[in-house]
Amino acid sequence: MKAYNGNNVIKKQFSLVFVKFAVCFLLLGLAYRLFLSHFQHFSQIEVVNDAALFSDNTLPTPATVSESPVTLNEPPVTVSESPVNVDVSENQTLQNGKCDLFIGNWVHDPSGPVYTNATCYSIESHQNCMKNGRPDTEYLYWRWNPRDCELPRFSPKKFLNLMRNKSFTFIGDSIMRNHVQSLLCILSQEEQVDDVYHDEQYKSRRWYFPNLDFSLSVIWSPFLAKATVFEDDNGVTTDITQLHLDKLDDVWTQQFDSFDYVVIGGGKWYLKSTIYLENNTIVGCHNCPGKNITQVGFAYAYRKALNTTMKFITSSKNKAYTFFRTTTPDHFENGEWNTGGYCNRTGPFKGGEVDMGYVDEVMRKVELEEFERASEFGSNMKLFDTTLLSLLRPDGHPGVYRQYQPFAAENKNKVQNDCLHWCLPGPIDSWNDIMMQMLCH
Ligand SMILES: *[C@@H]1O[C@H](CO)[C@@H](O)[C@H](O)[C@H]1NC(C)=O
Ligand SMILES: *[C@@H]1O[C@H](CO)[C@@H](O)[C@H](O)[C@H]1NC(C)=O
Ligand SMILES: *[C@@H]1O[C@H](CO)[C@@H](O)[C@H](O)[C@H]1NC(C)=O
Ligand SMILES: *[C@@H]1O[C@H](CO)[C@@H](O)[C@H](O)[C@H]1NC(C)=O
Ligand SMILES: *[C@@H]1O[C@H](CO)[C@@H](O)[C@H](O)[C@H]1NC(C)=O
Ligand SMILES: *[C@@H]1O[C@H](CO)[C@@H](O)[C@H](O)[C@H]1NC(C)=O
Ligand SMILES: *[C@@H]1O[C@H](CO)[C@@H](O)[C@H](O)[C@H]1NC(C)=O
Repeated sequence: MKAYNGNNVIKKQFSLVFVKFAVCFLLLGLAYRLFLSHFQHFSQIEVVNDAALFSDNTLPTPATVSESPVTLNEPPVTVSESPVNVDVSENQTLQNGKCDLFIGNWVHDPSGPVYTNATCYSIESHQNCMKNGRPDTEYLYWRWNPRDCELPRFSPKKFLNLMRNKSFTFIGDSIMRNHVQSLLCILSQEEQVDDVYHDEQYKSRRWYFPNLDFSLSVIWSPFLAKATVFEDDNGVTTDITQLHLDKLDDVWTQQFDSFDYVVIGGGKWYLKSTIYLENNTIVGCHNCPGKNITQVGFAYAYRKALNTTMKFITSSKNKAYTFFRTTTPDHFENGEWNTGGYCNRTGPFKGGEVDMGYVDEVMRKVELEEFERASEFGSNMKLFDTTLLSLLRPDGHPGVYRQYQPFAAENKNKVQNDCLHWCLPGPIDSWNDIMMQMLCH
């Protein structure tokens, strides 16, 4: 039925337009059911290229990827725990009478983005698709539409009002930075903002809204847990990363008490070659040939680290309102980032047209389970489950437009695709609509 094309995007293509039309109505009804089907498409081995993660904007050159294919110890998972389910009555999707904001579809929205490359000056060059010459613009005219309720567009005024004298931070990897920049672009249309801090590599940053006494920041902590060997600017590690699964990265825990609102998440960096420690003792590794250390799957490590993270958050005396964001799917098609994979679609998928890749399935499963366990401790942690809605937006990535004028004569031979981060403006702007809605209820 479907070919594994080296990545996550598996589509059911209907070649004739009119067939598509006819099928459309059926599809609408079947969409979620299809989504639900227990596909077990990757039966034994998943090849994960370490550097393929785009975990940062700095893409290592393919030559630096020397790792051999990785065998995941975990059996294939099915998506039975997915909240997407149409077999149940409408009411069951409403949690405590509240609408599930993460089930729905993308609908056309002629109003378009509230900022552009010309009105927001803080867009990172790799995500500045407009400026870099992306020719199509359809991807800008969609908004997320939850099935069971209205989702108003993000209101900067309302948001900023809530944020008076508050501190809001994003903790995680480069997708967190992507998200904070989206928020910053929207807010800066409304209110003066000052750049008050950045680290050397502009990975951790802080902004301040002086009229409101509001601090917005992003903290670079791609593992959330404590790592002892890190890679340099070019994504090159001098040695394999060592990660303490039972200790957290001080960079965020030390500041945690000062935050009122937090968005936290991770995942992708757990696919890298890593040695895992607990209680300062090596307990295994992932993707570490030649090390004579037991291979344990990344899911084991991610689960442990999330447990440590959530233990910290739920037992902290600072009851910050915390969004726990689930994994972000990429959309490389017909290859990986370094084997010719690309993402040049110009419109969203409908539910059922795409199936989540194995790695993201595993990650989201771990995330949902650990979140569930942690919620027994009655915290202020809320699930920010953007995985499925993001999966429907293969059109929202920079692709080759991560670089300025990729097809200009002088750039011809070094065209590189980014099918993980999001264009700004782009679909990630909608994450703020949802965030706002959660804050207001
Ligand atoms: C949904 O819940 C409402 C009130 O709780 C009830 O009146 C209604 O019949 C339910 N609908 C279905 C389809 O179960
Ligand atoms: C914004 O992008 C357009 C192309 O879409 C380009 O012509 C313009 O110079 C860019 N503006 C800025 C300020 O980068
Ligand atoms: C912010 O809160 C602190 C104490 O929490 C208070 O001292 C300060 O005056 C407040 N600032 C504003 C602008 O409201
Ligand atoms: C951690 O290691 C120390 C010695 O290195 C040992 O005394 C202690 O029992 C260990 N703790 C746990 C929880 O395994
Ligand atoms: C691998 O580790 C085991 C247990 O620590 C040890 O007995 C064995 O000699 C090691 N093998 C090599 C090739 O180092
Ligand atoms: C972390 O894991 C331990 C051991 O499995 C469990 O007892 C505890 O409830 C978990 N804590 C959280 C916050 O999930
Ligand atoms: C996307 O790129 C592939 C490979 O370069 C090409 O065959 C295809 O026509 C492109 N699709 C669109 C919509 O541009």
